Amino acid sequence: MTARLTADTAIIGGGVIGLAAAWRLAQAGLRVAIIERGEPGREASHAAGGMLAPLAEADSRDAFFDLAVAGRSLYSRFAAELKESTGTDIEYRTEGTLYLSLDECDDEELQRRWEWQHAAGLNVEKLDASFVRTLEPQVAPALRWALKFPDDHQVENRRLVAALLAATRNAGVEIISHTDALRLRIENFAGKKRIVGVVTTQGEVRTGVVVLAAGSWSGLIESDEPVALADVEVEPVRGQMISLEMPMPVVRHVIYSRRGYVIPRLGGTVVCGSTSERAGFDKRVTAGGIAGIIEGAAGMLPAIRELAITEMWAGLRPFAGDGWPILGYDPQVSGLVYATGHYRNGILLAPITAETVTELIVQGEARRDISPFSVRRFATGKRDNGTNEIRGNKRKI
Ligand code: GLY
Repeated sequence: MTARLTADTAIIGGGVIGLAAAWRLAQAGLRVAIIERGEPGREASHAAGGMLAPLAEADSRDAFFDLAVAGRSLYSRFAAELKESTGTDIEYRTEGTLYLSLDECDDEELQRRWEWQHAAGLNVEKLDASFVRTLEPQVAPALRWALKFPDDHQVENRRLVAALLAATRNAGVEIISHTDALRLRIENFAGKKRIVGVVTTQGEVRTGVVVLAAGSWSGLIESDEPVALADVEVEPVRGQMISLEMPMPVVRHVIYSRRGYVIPRLGGTVVCGSTSERAGFDKRVTAGGIAGIIEGAAGMLPAIRELAITEMWAGLRPFAGDGWPILGYDPQVSGLVYATGHYRNGILLAPITAETVTELIVQGEARRDISPFSVRRFATGKRDNGTNEIRGNKRKI
């Protein structure tokens, strides 16, 4: 097979993680190629809801939570930089997220969340029902109270994809679309293994550094020598979504509860989600999935039932054993960097993942401690807690 091109870094996967990393690496002066099996940004990045909501989805403070909060804090500058670089507004919205209590079970959930987050000094507010109604008059009569997360914001993820595509192209990134990455080429030099390229369906990309950012497809790439990711199952978890026409503003905040979430868009639609299903790589929507989402959304905002459907779709969240991302170098193979397994938080974590990957490659180490996200954790038996239940950010015991 003849070499197709040479790059300083080849990124496998053209979702928001791969695109954002490519942009930052190209800004740092590297020649970057993205190898994308389909059209860039058309999988989980396209299917997402765009919530930047670490507080709404976190059950406790841990390394993942700290990463998510740090990632969120980069977004306003990231959005402004993308606008300046490409002219595309990714609709970074700062109204915040409301987490509703509509029954006794919700009371317990919200109270738990309030207690740990308030004690930790996080920006969370407890609101009574009458005040919530002044913010969101359409909430269900069953509303008991709510938490407000003023700093849990949102972006329009499809605009984010468009902006990142334009930014990477402006920065000279080569995007090789409709091309499968088949095999990591690894050679032994003086007893050490190192990356020398990627074999693709279009030829070989020669490179000393590969960033594996292929989301749910990350485990399907072969390699000349064993790599640590081979011990991890990066599993697709299907999330179905529906969007509805919103001719009158039914809602302004992101609305969240145990039933699902409702995300208002500036373009006159509202996006409702989602399911969490093990369905392999099947991205079809199902009657039961969509019915459940509508039921959940209408339980929070009854006016949802009157809105016309504009689109239904599903995406595959990459879930790696414990729900945390895999970030950092392979322990054995020099030049192989993992940036995958972002599960429910790919949009939120794209800027901080890009920053981290760039630090690793350009400076040789990341500024923040990313050891909790190392692929090594799967080798030490922390990988699976023995249950099939998938919920929230982490697999539950
Ligand atoms: N982050 C929301 C979801 O994955 O459904």
